[in-house]
Amino acid sequence: MKRMLLATLLSLSALPAAAGQYSDALQPSGRFSVYGHGAAATPPMGFNPWNAFRTEVDQARIASVVDALQQRGLQDAGYRYVNIDDGWWLRRDAQGRIEIRTSMFPIAQQADGGTSFRAWTDMLHARGFKAGLYTDAGRNACSQAFDRHSPNLPVGSVAEREIGLQGFEASDLKTMFQDWGFDYLKVDACGLADFGAGSEPVKQSGHRALRPLIVRGDAQRTDADAVETRYARVGRLLADLNPDGDFVLSICPWGEAGVRDWGGEHGNLWRTSPDIEPTWASMLHNFDSASRRELYAGPGRWNDPDMLAIGLGEFDAQHLTQARTHFSLWAMLSAPLLLGFDLREAPQPLIDLLTNPEVIAIDQDPAGNQAVLVADGRPVQVLVKPLATRGERAVLLFNRGDAPATAQVTPAQMKLADDASIRMRDLWRHADLPQTRGALRFALAPHQAMLLKVRGTPVELHGALLSEMTGRIHVAADGLPSYSTALDQASGTPRADATPEGLPLQVAGEKYAYGIGTHADSRLEVATRGEFARFAATVGLQDNAGQTDASVVFRVYGDGKLLHATAPLTAGKSADLDIDTTGVSVLELVAASQNAPAGSLPPVVAWADARLRQLDKRIKVK
Ligand code: GLA
Repeated sequence: MKRMLLATLLSLSALPAAAGQYSDALQPSGRFSVYGHGAAATPPMGFNPWNAFRTEVDQARIASVVDALQQRGLQDAGYRYVNIDDGWWLRRDAQGRIEIRTSMFPIAQQADGGTSFRAWTDMLHARGFKAGLYTDAGRNACSQAFDRHSPNLPVGSVAEREIGLQGFEASDLKTMFQDWGFDYLKVDACGLADFGAGSEPVKQSGHRALRPLIVRGDAQRTDADAVETRYARVGRLLADLNPDGDFVLSICPWGEAGVRDWGGEHGNLWRTSPDIEPTWASMLHNFDSASRRELYAGPGRWNDPDMLAIGLGEFDAQHLTQARTHFSLWAMLSAPLLLGFDLREAPQPLIDLLTNPEVIAIDQDPAGNQAVLVADGRPVQVLVKPLATRGERAVLLFNRGDAPATAQVTPAQMKLADDASIRMRDLWRHADLPQTRGALRFALAPHQAMLLKVRGTPVELHGALLSEMTGRIHVAADGLPSYSTALDQASGTPRADATPEGLPLQVAGEKYAYGIGTHADSRLEVATRGEFARFAATVGLQDNAGQTDASVVFRVYGDGKLLHATAPLTAGKSADLDIDTTGVSVLELVAASQNAPAGSLPPVVAWADARLRQLDKRIKVK
């Protein structure tokens, strides 16, 4: 709910006073307002049975996958979560308790006739795994809408078949986490989307109709606030039920209802797109749904473009180039790595690919910076992910097309000094490449990705560019009037080193390679954690972005206190900031517009060349 309601924005923009003054969204919070709970400091890794077994999630099958995870070195490589997806429930009993389908999970049968997953999670824990479960935010689950011929759907009366969380949030979550001992929960959203009056599941299977809160692909008819409220409640309950913080909340409304904006405030990962299919086109689509969202991910909160399709269809052992590219892309996005194929029979080359420790280390890098798309061409894209070790970056050059292509990346794009030498290592060939200077060039086969770990001299020697610590930025208000998929797609959301539309930053005639581009009426929180002495930037409206009458005030807050405010800046004007930030834990960057014409998007602005200078050069930027 970080966006302002369109109506409010429009009426305020007609007033002479600064719009920002009236908007809660632009008030400093004095904190880093992300979810902050759960055990997802790095992206979760594990196995999810959905794409392999759909609703046939029986105990024996998953147990043999667990054997394979251990015997084939996947557990040692970091795959820890063993999740159960849709299909595990039998019914909700008269007391409101969920019964497990014991024909699939005999381990769940209790002597007193009840059911419990405790023995299942004990088994997983004893073997060094974590246990995941699946539910829905509404009354019914996705299988009840889309797998209606499955023999494993909930049974009984209408009420007994309502196995979703709605109305039972507190008791179900208590059962799952405190009684059954789960560590991970995926909360799907079909119950909020697919059971409207007149829908097939309601007509054919007699489910109770629920006015859809999500209308897929239709932002106007989707009630994004209501969906967010549901997930926020689940997030709060899980935090309360797990005082040790050892849990993960996976939010699953497939990129709908603005979840890409608010997911990081209520959970640890959120789906940015529809379900992945094992095709090149689907993989690209899901990658694209997250690849411009680098300011939304960070430790504890991850964009989730869905499970890995490796091992299936166009990513099977006959398509190792595509499988390596898919894995590389997910690693660059800091995406969760959830395997989704039947590992028991997996050919060894796929296992080798999925256990590549150097690629996994890119995904799991503790800084949690999602890669920035630094070249967005067709067919070649280039991504750069600043790693926790100073001067190290993962660099990916990626041929989306069906023909061979050449690709290049410059030191400046890697945020490295032009004139210093560059070391690099090919993470798929496990080979160091010759030390070099200047741009790197490669020939890429169709669908190939070159994944490198590069080490050089950072352009900012005494601290960090703000855009190389994206994992420490939270977009608290993105400047766009109320959630709209159409707007997001047309205008984009805040970006590192680019405008929301993906253009180079340019203020008062000057081009800037680095910085943050956003719409005005925005607020960014930066977790500076007392490590930086100064914040410097050149601020102003983006050149040639329309909005000639608007002016923007840039305010910088430290731990909720105003450190600096510029005069109102009109198009073509800039201001240089250099602000003492000693001791500041959370820096907030606010851009508030005045006189923006009603009915149009707020102006595009730049925090160009934004840098944080360190207190003590020995402190590492993580
Ligand atoms: C939705 C989710 C999938 C899977 C299925 C189960 O489609 O997005 O990941 O959980 O439901 O029915």
